[in-house]
Amino acid sequence: MNITIAIDGPAGSGKGTLAKELAKKYNLINIDTGATYRCVALKTIRENIDINETDKIIEISKNIQIELKEDGTVLMDGEEVTKEIRSKEVTTIVSPISSIVEVRKNMVEIQRKIAANNNVVMEGRDITTIVLPNAKYKFYLDAELESRAKRRYKENLEKGIDMTYEEIYENIKKRDYNDMNKEVGALKRTDEQVYIDTTNLTIEEEVEIIGKIIEGDKDEKIDR
Ligand code: DC
Repeated sequence: MNITIAIDGPAGSGKGTLAKELAKKYNLINIDTGATYRCVALKTIRENIDINETDKIIEISKNIQIELKEDGTVLMDGEEVTKEIRSKEVTTIVSPISSIVEVRKNMVEIQRKIAANNNVVMEGRDITTIVLPNAKYKFYLDAELESRAKRRYKENLEKGIDMTYEEIYENIKKRDYNDMNKEVGALKRTDEQVYIDTTNLTIEEEVEIIGKIIEGDKDEKIDR
């Protein structure tokens, strides 16, 4: 079965967890596109470049080497940065960095290269619209802001990332606005996506809903 699954949605909507489960179930390569923007943000911080030095950030995005391993490990220029790209510092600047049009062009190229000739599940903000517009299955995952902030807080605690609930709530709120109002690559709802509100769903329920769509159960009713 040839499967390409594209998932978009705001921060904390559960895209990452869902993509991991779908990758396991359908034997797909899981591509977390947010990680590519996070690598550019991390390198910007490490090189002491100011967020307004757009040309230098574009230069970074042109030359950066990013590898996304099947087990979720992220390599930047050959170095493992899986945890570091989730830090507060990176999370604070990643959305404005991802608004730079040239940076997006370079990241989309990297993302498409990873997807080429593979069955993939890819998640991000512009996957259903720009990166993989021909994907067979397109989903938009959503959840209430408070529930997304709570999830992210719990995940961060488990990963040992130091951010208070209030910091996460404010960061997600700001990123929602920025991610939905970008000049290019904005997070958008379209008629082609199946809309799933995950606020009151468990991961098992999400996988079941999507499984029924993929495996062709036409009786499944989904609130679009
Ligand atoms: O999914 P994430 O929280 O790791 O993404 C980090 C940031 O990267 C997010 O605020 C917006 C940006 N992003 C993007 O612009 N396009 C994507 N396809 C994925 C992420």
